Amino acid sequence: MARPLPDILRCDWPVEAAAPPPATEQALERAAAILRRGGLVAIPTETVYGLAADALDEEAVAGIFRAKGRPASNPLIVHVSDVAMARSLAASWPDAAAAIAARLWPGPVTVVVPRGPRIPDIVTAGGPTVALRCPDHRLARRLIEVAGVPLAAPSANRSEAVSPTTAHHVLAGLGDKVELILDGGPCGRGIESTVVDCTTTPPRILRPGPLARETLETVVGGPVEWLAAAGPGAAEAARSPGQQQRHYAPRTPLELSDDAARRAGELLDAGQRVGLVTTRGDDPATRALAARREILVVPMPADPHAYARMLYATLHALDHRDLGAIVVERPPATEPWKAIRDRLVRAATTP
Ligand code: TXA
Ligand code: MG
Repeated sequence: MARPLPDILRCDWPVEAAAPPPATEQALERAAAILRRGGLVAIPTETVYGLAADALDEEAVAGIFRAKGRPASNPLIVHVSDVAMARSLAASWPDAAAAIAARLWPGPVTVVVPRGPRIPDIVTAGGPTVALRCPDHRLARRLIEVAGVPLAAPSANRSEAVSPTTAHHVLAGLGDKVELILDGGPCGRGIESTVVDCTTTPPRILRPGPLARETLETVVGGPVEWLAAAGPGAAEAARSPGQQQRHYAPRTPLELSDDAARRAGELLDAGQRVGLVTTRGDDPATRALAARREILVVPMPADPHAYARMLYATLHALDHRDLGAIVVERPPATEPWKAIRDRLVRAATTP
């Protein structure tokens, strides 16, 4: 039998107010009650929406894996309201983690540290480390405080699908799997946190994200490396189990192209309906294409942060347009675009 649809509770919290208004406080209380009895709640963060459960409750966390269809080998990030809570979950607190947490939290960066005894096996996929993050979203942190427990929360989408950046994306993807969705508006960052393994020297970035390597190096006071590209089965892959090739993918086939306008034209000529995602909306070639009936051109910002904010919403929207193909202009091969390239390359990988 199909489960009833979840409630979506709009949670306003004016920037100038230190405490949330009563309606939001009530929504947080309701969410906390669900979490405390082992249920699932979708929550806003500054990166993407998360599917949250009490990280210390094995059964509750098992519910996350079931709802997402996520392989048990892929560990979860545990969200905390402050550094003290993070430290209480770690067996030790490496210098790099201390520096990152002190200077970049709350923020879109996750530290991987030795796992403390309170963390159940299921959260870490049995591994000796735990990933911890303090989100830069007041609702998320307040909810953790009200619930009184750390929250395990992967992105609130089915495994391999595009991550949600609005409450409605969550409803569309996981609406039958979650009891409550807290709507905190669209996510400010738009892509998942940078994940840094702080158990090695130098620390290594397991997943590129909104926080740049340069920033991490400044904060850590030394080099921070990229995890070497891991081929399937490579020893390195075990370091970052979530970095399977296909991920973040819409159902519509997506391809990256160095000459996206030309490629979109080819597909149009072959009779396809095409979505074109490009920062070159003003190029004559793009304008000429945009005049044709069977194409939807989405102009994207040339700034990588603004691009990241729009990326998943763009893919979600195009995925509902009954297109034969989505063509995305390949972003520059430079560090500021690295996280976006990573997501797009995975989205373009065929199953
Ligand atoms: O921005 C984010 O990080 C979002 C929001 C909701 O906080 N969460 C998120 O979670 O992206 P998820 O589950 O979609 O991605 C978690 C990533 C995966 O690549 C996973 O393999 C990695 O973090 N991870 C988790 N625990 C780890 C660990 N102990 N060691 C290495 N990688 C770990
Ligand atoms: Mg995810």
